[in-house]
Amino acid sequence: MHYQKNENDTLAQINVWKRNGFTVGFVPTMGALHEGHLSLIRKSKEENDKTVCSIFVNPTQFTEKSDFATYPKTLSSDINLLLKEGVDMLFNPAAKTIYPPDYKTKQYDLAGLDKNLEGHLRPGHFQGVCNVLDRLFKIVPADRAYFGQKDFQQTVVVFHLCKLLGIQTDVVVCPIIREENGLAMSSRNNRLTDELRKNAGFIFSSLIQLKQYFKQGNFKQGIDSFIKNISEHDGANLEYLKIVNMQSLQETDNYEQKSKIALTVVNYHGVRLLDNIRLD
Ligand code: PAF
Repeated sequence: MHYQKNENDTLAQINVWKRNGFTVGFVPTMGALHEGHLSLIRKSKEENDKTVCSIFVNPTQFTEKSDFATYPKTLSSDINLLLKEGVDMLFNPAAKTIYPPDYKTKQYDLAGLDKNLEGHLRPGHFQGVCNVLDRLFKIVPADRAYFGQKDFQQTVVVFHLCKLLGIQTDVVVCPIIREENGLAMSSRNNRLTDELRKNAGFIFSSLIQLKQYFKQGNFKQGIDSFIKNISEHDGANLEYLKIVNMQSLQETDNYEQKSKIALTVVNYHGVRLLDNIRLD
C-alpha cells in the first residue's frame, strides 16, 4: 500500500494510474475505521482497479471543539485494516496540507441543504465538509467516491457539491452497516460502554416499526409510537425525527408522497446516534 501524506505525490500517483488506464475509487474517512467503512472499501475494490482511502479528521466540520479533541484516533489499527482489505493507497495528510496558512475558507451555495436537520443543530458543519471534500477531490481525482447512507444529509450535500463544482467523480452511496442488534455502525459508537452499545438496538427497531405503520397508512400513530419508544429508554433523548423528501431534504407532512425517508438522531447517554430508514 502507498502511504502518502503529501498532496503532489498523491496526485502524481493517481495520474500515473489513470494514464495507465486504471479506474480509481476513493473512500474519504476520518479514521476510526469500522465495518461500515470497510463495506465502502470493498465496494470500491469491486468497481475500480485501484482504491484510495483518506484519513483526515477535518477540524472545520466540528462545531464543538471538545468533539474534535475527543474524536477517536486509531491510526495504527486503521492501517492494519487497510492492509488487510488490500487498499492501494492511504492518503493521511497533516492539517496544514489540507489547509495551508494562505487557505481561504469557502462558502458554498448549497441551496439550503445545509441549513436544516444536522445543519440546524451543527451550524457550519456542512460548509466544513464541503471545504475538505473540495480539497480532497482535487488531490484524489477519482472516478468514483463512496459514502455511507448513515449520513444521509451528507450524501445529498455531496451530490450537490459535485454538481456545483463540476467535479467529475461519481458519488456512490452504500447501505448502512449495522451491529447485530441493528445499531448503525459509527465511529462514535466507541464512546458508548459495551452495555449501552448492546442496548442501543432500540433505535433501529423503532424505525422498522415506524416504517410498518407508514406502510399501513397509520402515519400519526407511527410517529407517536416512535417518540414513545425512544422516551422509554433510560438516557435516550430524541433530538429529532423528520420525514423528508430524499432529494430536497424538505420536511413533508404529505406522507402519501413518494421518495420519503425518516431521519433521526437520538442522544443516548451523551452520544449522538444517527440513523434513517427509507419509507417507500
Ligand atoms: O463522513 C465522514 O467521515 C466525513 O464527513 C468526510 C466525508 C470524510 C469528510 O471529512
